[in-house]
This record gives sequence, structure tokens and C-alpha cells, in this order.
Amino acid sequence: MPTYRAPRGTRDLLPETKAGFGRLEGIARSLAARYGYREMEIPLFEQTAVFERGIGEATDVVEKELFRIAPRTEDSESWALRPEATAGIVRAYVQHGMQTLPPPVKLTVVGPMFRYDRPQAGRYRQFWQWDVEAIGDAGPAVDAEVIDLGRRFYIEAGVADVQVLLNSIGDSACRPAYLERLKAHFGAHADELPALERRRLETNPLRLLDSKDPVMADLIAGAPLITDFLCEPCRAHFDSVKAHLEAMGVPYRLQPTLVRGLDYYARTAFEFYRSGAEGQQQALGGGGRYDGLVELLGGRPTAAIGFALGLDRVLLAVEETGGPVAVAEPPLAVVAGADPADTVSRLRVAASLRAEGLAVRAELGQRKLARQLESASKEHAHFAVILGDELAEGQVQLKDLEAGTQRLVPLVDLARELARAAKSHHHG
Ligand code: HAM
Repeated sequence: MPTYRAPRGTRDLLPETKAGFGRLEGIARSLAARYGYREMEIPLFEQTAVFERGIGEATDVVEKELFRIAPRTEDSESWALRPEATAGIVRAYVQHGMQTLPPPVKLTVVGPMFRYDRPQAGRYRQFWQWDVEAIGDAGPAVDAEVIDLGRRFYIEAGVADVQVLLNSIGDSACRPAYLERLKAHFGAHADELPALERRRLETNPLRLLDSKDPVMADLIAGAPLITDFLCEPCRAHFDSVKAHLEAMGVPYRLQPTLVRGLDYYARTAFEFYRSGAEGQQQALGGGGRYDGLVELLGGRPTAAIGFALGLDRVLLAVEETGGPVAVAEPPLAVVAGADPADTVSRLRVAASLRAEGLAVRAELGQRKLARQLESASKEHAHFAVILGDELAEGQVQLKDLEAGTQRLVPLVDLARELARAAKSHHHG
């Protein structure tokens, strides 16, 4: 057992995994660009109030899972690591006066988030999200566009059969009446409720619908549904979102108990699951409309919608479903030498090739040439550049390790020759 280990719930992304993440991030950035989202960065920590106000004090994320940073004595500010990106992005949107930009302001963030949750497969204390926000458009067309964007990501990432679960959770006009009904329903069985759920009945009754406690299953099944209580504007908005999705050929499944874990949502709410994995608390992503958040964080009333996809979980799903994984690229060439002691020449040739943008490895050991070539073949380098007596005349041997052929090449032409060979190799 090593003395020091990564903190519980965190992961070292070893090169293989990091390459998989890199591939997903590449897809995210490419899609963001195609859909007109601009990438930005926000701090990994914020004033705690940004999360308490933005996400809601009675949510699990704030109540139990916030990584609070111990305050320092010289300043009284209280900070916490970001558990998600939306609150921080909206804080930045307000702070930098982005409401003067033509709406919607389309922003995206890729990076680590922190939640002090109980770790398990696919649930970490530091995890990565691709977050997407469209601020300043009340929809419903942008709702459908955002959902289509999320779904497109899984398709391009190679995760088989991801489903869109869709709901509307109403707004401040219609939700209060629904919450009263919900409270009455669960309140009638208050003594059967587990302690946590009994408390939620007071603090956040909507979350009762998301309880995984088996005791709750029957009660949830019999609970009134928000979609039966939507006011006319919310109903019309929801109908239009569905109509847009249908017209675009984006399949979805209605899930009237889908309520999301953060308080800022209104109207459209959605989650992405692999088919058959809906019950496992393993959403691959989720999002929705948060029309009240900008105002809550000090801006003008501004409609907005977005989502975040969990990259750790997507990568797991790619691996589980046999999707494409990122593989390490071998070097184009290994610079080897007939004189094992002449590391200087090998380093100089390698450096000049790298300066031309080529990926090469220099043989820095003192092994015999045959050994050097053996390991070059083993790591699947395409070429070996062999430095020998001809170096005095400015020439080197260029050995094609796959074809087994070898020829003399002037040093001044080497980079160009290798670049051309690399190109023809990639194209066929
Ligand atoms: P969320 O549903 O809390 O939404 O998180 C989005 C996704 O992040 C989840 O579906 C999951 O894939 C991933 N995720 C969450 N917690 C963990 C964890 N502990 N370990 C691994 N993956 C995790 C939000 O965060 C909202 N900010 C989404 C949003 C953006 N809504 C509007 N705009």
C-alpha cells in the first residue's frame, strides 16, 4: 500500500484515460463551434453565496455536497469549490454586463466540478463536465436546439442508444399550487416517510419524486404529476418544445417525475440516459431552463437554458458499449545511431525534426544499433533515422520500418521527406 494516495472519490487520469477525455473534449469543442457557443473559463471556486443562492440552499448539492474552503483569517469571505458551472457562468454574465450582447449569449465551459458525494462507479468527488448555456432566449425553439446539441454529442462520441427524458416542471405561476398538492399527497403518509424524506416534505417537496428509497416507490407512483398542473403559458411552451423536437426527428420520452436536483429550473427539464439505465441514478447528462437565475444573481430578468454532460460517465459508457477509444500515437520516427555513444548527434537531429513539427523520439541510451531498431519497431514507429558515417557528408539513412526498405537522404531534406511520408501514410 503506497503512503500517499489520491483523495477518495478523485481519479488520476492516466494517459490512456486522458486521451479518451481529450477525444470527448475535442467533440464537445467542435460541436460547440458548429452550434455557435463560445468557450470561456470561470474560477474553480466562487463565493459560497453564488451556489447557495443560485443552486438553492435546500438542495443536496449545497446542503451536503459542497466543498467549502476553510475561511482564512485575513478575509471574511467564504468560498466553495464549484459543484457545477451554471451558477458561475451566470455570475460572470451579470458581472461583465453580457446582457448588452445580442441574445442569446451562448457560452460553454469544459472542466472539473467538485461534489462531496459518496463515491461509487461513475460518481466522483471531482468529475468533468461539458457545460453549455444559451442565455437570453425564452424558447421554445432554443430548447429543442439545445437538446439536439446534447444528443448529437453522444452520437459523435459513439455511445449507443442514449435517450432523452423530457419534462416540464412549470414556473412560479403554476408550481406553487402543484407543490401544495404534492405536500398533501406525501403529508398524508408522513409517518411512513423515512426521516430524510419527511424533512424534504418541508424544505424541498419536489425532490421527493426523485427519492431512491424503496419505501417511497409506491407513494411516488401515486403522486400527482406536475404536467397535470401546468399553467397555460407553460403548457403551450412545453407543447411547442415537443413539436420542435418531433419536427427535427429528435426522439424523446416523457418522464413526468423528472425534477432535477438544482433549484433554479423552470419549465423544460431533461436528462440523458442510456436505454435501460434510467433507474440507476447514472444520468449521462442533464439540464433545463432556468429563467429566474440571472435575476437571482443580480441581473435583469433573463430567460436561459442549458445542460451539462458528465464526461467521466460518457467515457465509461463509450468503453462499455465498445465505442471508439483514443489510442496513443506512435512516433513518426526514431532517431537511432551506429555509434551508441554519440547521443549529441541524435539529439540534434531529433530537435531539428521536432522544430519542423514532427513527432520523433531520439534514442538516448547507449545500446547497439540493432537493439535501437528493435525497440523502434516494437513501438510501431514508421521510420528509423539512422546516423552513421554518412553524417559527415550531411546524409542519413532513412529506414521504412514497415516496408523494410532503406535509402540515403540528405539531412537538409529529411524533415520534408518525413513530412511527405507521414502525410501519404495518413491518407492511405
Ligand atoms: P447535474 O444534473 O447536476 O446538472 O449534472 C450534470 C451531469 O454531470 C450529470 O448528468 C452527470 O453526468 C454528471 N455528474 C454530476 N455529478 C457527478 C458526479 N458526482 N460524478 C460524476 N459525474 C457527475 C448540472 O450540473 C447543471 N449545471 C446542468 C445545467 C446547465 N443546467 C442548465 N445548465
